[in-house]
Amino acid sequence: MSIKFEKVNYTYSLNTPFKYVALKEIDLDITPNKITAIIGATGSGKSTLVQHLNALLIPTGGTVTVFERMISSLEKPKKLKDLRKKVGLVFQFPEYQLFEETVEKDICFGPKNFNMEDAEKRALDCLKLVSLDPNIKQKSPLDLSGGQKRRVAIAGILAMDPDVLVLDEPTAGLDPKGAKDMMNLFQSINQTMKKTIIIVTHDMEHVLNYCDEVVVMDKGRVRGKYLVSDFFKDTSFLKELNILPPSVIRFKEELNACGFSIDEKVEDIQSLANAIVKVVL
Ligand SMILES: Nc1ncnc2c1ncn2[C@@H]1O[C@H](COP(=O)(O)OP(=O)(O)OP(=O)(O)O)[C@@H](O)[C@H]1O
Ligand SMILES: [Mg+2]
Repeated sequence: MSIKFEKVNYTYSLNTPFKYVALKEIDLDITPNKITAIIGATGSGKSTLVQHLNALLIPTGGTVTVFERMISSLEKPKKLKDLRKKVGLVFQFPEYQLFEETVEKDICFGPKNFNMEDAEKRALDCLKLVSLDPNIKQKSPLDLSGGQKRRVAIAGILAMDPDVLVLDEPTAGLDPKGAKDMMNLFQSINQTMKKTIIIVTHDMEHVLNYCDEVVVMDKGRVRGKYLVSDFFKDTSFLKELNILPPSVIRFKEELNACGFSIDEKVEDIQSLANAIVKVVL
């Protein structure tokens, strides 16, 4: 297993009066080459969890194993460069991630730091991948909109060609088409390059339409990991978690409550329309 959490605890501001236990006894395997969603209410520990994947945070207790690297509170991790090349993390707030004078320098930072060739060409290719106009490469990242900053941060991570791509709310601040394009990009990176993708999201439509597995966080604990195809079948569990299911699932439920019997496998608009047509025509 390439990514594994074992009994991981994380406490912010340890040994101070402000200490806060954000992760409790996390046991979790991330399936390689899949798209895994991390969901849960605000403050449930999603961002804290994913920052352990490239050792931005070190567990207070337990171990995180990423490929051959094991990280625990017992040893000060050395040579994190290799790990950070393999696991690219796009922060929840991209403005924390951008710091160079120009967009181009920012995207080139990772590739240059890892002595990769053709950093400028990579930067240009990645700008195009995230649907940004290559002409913005000489602009200061500070002069960009929130959505553009997010795209630049994603381009900077893609330019390092990591094996695992971790994205903390990657579509926040994008318009609906931009969000859809971005999710399609992650899906194509997963399918064509077989990269493992981990996405923190509050968007259940994205979970249903793009992800393979879903991890539910609840008050610093992992409530469970599920196949997306199973997860949305149990709407009573979703209600307990205060999760509003995707609209197609809710519509199907309403129809069934009115006497229809739509197959539980129906999970997209086209199949739902076909199922309705079958009954009413
Ligand atoms: N730097 C910090 N110092 C102290 N407490 C923190 C710090 N960062 C986060 N926390 C606390 O840890 C808990 C988990 O925070 P985290 O950011 O992981 O939640 P989240 O699930 O990502 O939430 P959101 O959906 O709002 O992004 C929260 O209660 C938060 O207040
Ligand atoms: Mg967060």
